[in-house]
Amino acid sequence: MAESRTRIRDASRRSWAEPWKVKMVEPARWTTRDYREKCIREAGYNTFLLRSEDVYIDLLTDSGTSAMSDSQWAGLMLGDEAYAGSRNFYHLEENVRKYYGYQYVVPTHQGRGAEHLVSQVYIKQGDYVPGNMYFTTTRIHQELAGGTFVDVIVDEAHDPQSEHPFKGNVDLDKLEDLIQEVGSERVPYVSLAATVNMAGGQPVSMANARAVRELCDGYGIPVLLDATRAIENAYFIRQREEGYRGKKVAEILLEFCSYTHGCWMSAKKDTLVNIGGWLALNDQAKFDDARNLVVVYEGLHTYGGLAGRDLEAMARGIEESVDDDHIRARVGQVEYLGNKLLGWGVPLVVPIGGHAVFLDARRFYPHIPQDRFPAQRLAAEIYLEAGVRTMERGILSAGRDPATGDHRYPKLELVRVTIPRRVYTQAHMDVTAEAIEEVWWRAGEAKGLRLVYEPKYLRFFQARLEPAE
Ligand code: F0G
Repeated sequence: MAESRTRIRDASRRSWAEPWKVKMVEPARWTTRDYREKCIREAGYNTFLLRSEDVYIDLLTDSGTSAMSDSQWAGLMLGDEAYAGSRNFYHLEENVRKYYGYQYVVPTHQGRGAEHLVSQVYIKQGDYVPGNMYFTTTRIHQELAGGTFVDVIVDEAHDPQSEHPFKGNVDLDKLEDLIQEVGSERVPYVSLAATVNMAGGQPVSMANARAVRELCDGYGIPVLLDATRAIENAYFIRQREEGYRGKKVAEILLEFCSYTHGCWMSAKKDTLVNIGGWLALNDQAKFDDARNLVVVYEGLHTYGGLAGRDLEAMARGIEESVDDDHIRARVGQVEYLGNKLLGWGVPLVVPIGGHAVFLDARRFYPHIPQDRFPAQRLAAEIYLEAGVRTMERGILSAGRDPATGDHRYPKLELVRVTIPRRVYTQAHMDVTAEAIEEVWWRAGEAKGLRLVYEPKYLRFFQARLEPAE
C-alpha cells in the first residue's frame, strides 16, 4: 500500500516548539480603529504614552516583560527579606560567578542603576568612552559622569541591508585611532555591548571580542561588557561562527565574558525577570568603589534596591536563560516573524536580530524627512492598524548633541518590533506581521510629525508630537 502513496509534507523539515506550556493567562483586549485614533492622539503619537490596557499585542520592549517560570514564581516565596545578607543575594552571586565568570557582584534595581555605578566609578571629566554603537541609557550615564561616547562599531552596522553576520563587531582601526588620538589615559574602558540593541539586535563575534581584548591589553584599558543580551549573542556565535556549532550556549557565554573585565546587566531581558540588574567586576578596587556607591543610590550591597524575592527570581532566571532549547525558541520566534515579513517584501534590518525585528522606516517613508520623525510615525501607524505597540529607534531616540543642541541624525531610522520572552504565540506573530504588511502597503499616504513637548533627558520616553500638517 505504502508504495502507491505520495508524500505531501516536505519530510526534510521538522518543526520545533517552545520548551514550555502555558499555565496562566492574562486577557488581551481588541479595540476599534476609532478608539485607537483617540488613544494615539492623546498619547502625543508616542507609544510610550499609551496605556497598556489599550494595547492588544505589546511589542514595545522585551524589558521586564518576560513570563517567569513556575520555578521562578516558587522562588519568590523563598525571598529572604533581611536588610543585610539575604540568602537570595548569595544565590545570585553564585550564579553570576558560575555562568558569567566574574568574581564580584553588586545588585542594582535594573540595568541603568548598574550603568550609573560603573560610569561613576570609571569615568573622569574629559574622558572618551569608545563603544560598539550607543545605547540610550548607557550613553547618558557616561555623559553625566563627564565622558564623551565615541562610536567605534563596524560601518556595516549602520547599513540596514548589509548581511554581515556580526554587525555588532568593533572596528579595531577606529578603536585604535581613538586611543592614539586622545591617549590611553583618557579612555577609562571600552564599552562593548553584546548583542547591539540599536544596530538591530546584532551580535559580536568571539574572534572580535578576543581581538578587542588583545588590543586593549596593549594599552592597559579594561573592556566592560553590556551583558543585557549576551546569551542571545552566544546563540548567534553558535549558529554563525566557525568552531562553535556543537557547543553549549552556556560554554560560549563563559568564553565570551572571559575576554572582558566586568559587565553591567539589565536582568529584565536575558534573565527572564520583571525587575533587576547587576554589576559584576573582577577588579577588587573598582568593586569596592561600586559597592560603596550602591548604598548611596540603590540600597545595601546585598539587595541593591530589590526585594530578596527579586534576587531569587534572577538567580533562577540565569539558570533557565542559558538552556539551549530556551534560547533556540526565543530567537526562533523572532526569526519566524522576521522571515514572514521579508517574504512579503517589507523593508527591515537584516540579518534578523535576537530580540526584535527592526523595520526600516527610511524605506517605508522615503517622502518623510528625518526631522519629521518617520519611524515615530510608523510606530503610530502600526498601533492604529491593529493595536500592536512598537517603539521608535531613530532620530527621536538619538536625542540632541549636548554641545550644539541640534538633533543627532542617526543613519538608522528604525521601528523596533520587540518580542517579550515566553509571552506570545505564533498566532500573535501572524497578526502582527499582517498589520505591518498592511501599513507597508499604504506607506505612501503617511505624513510626518513635529515635536510639541520635548523633555531634557532621554526625550523619546515622554516627548509629545502631532501631525506636521
Ligand atoms: N543596555 C541595553 C543594551 C539595554 O537594552 C537596556 C535597556 C539597558 C542597558 C538599560 O537597562 O532598562 O534595565 O535600566 N533597554 C530597554 C529596551 C529599555 O527597551 O531596550 P534597564
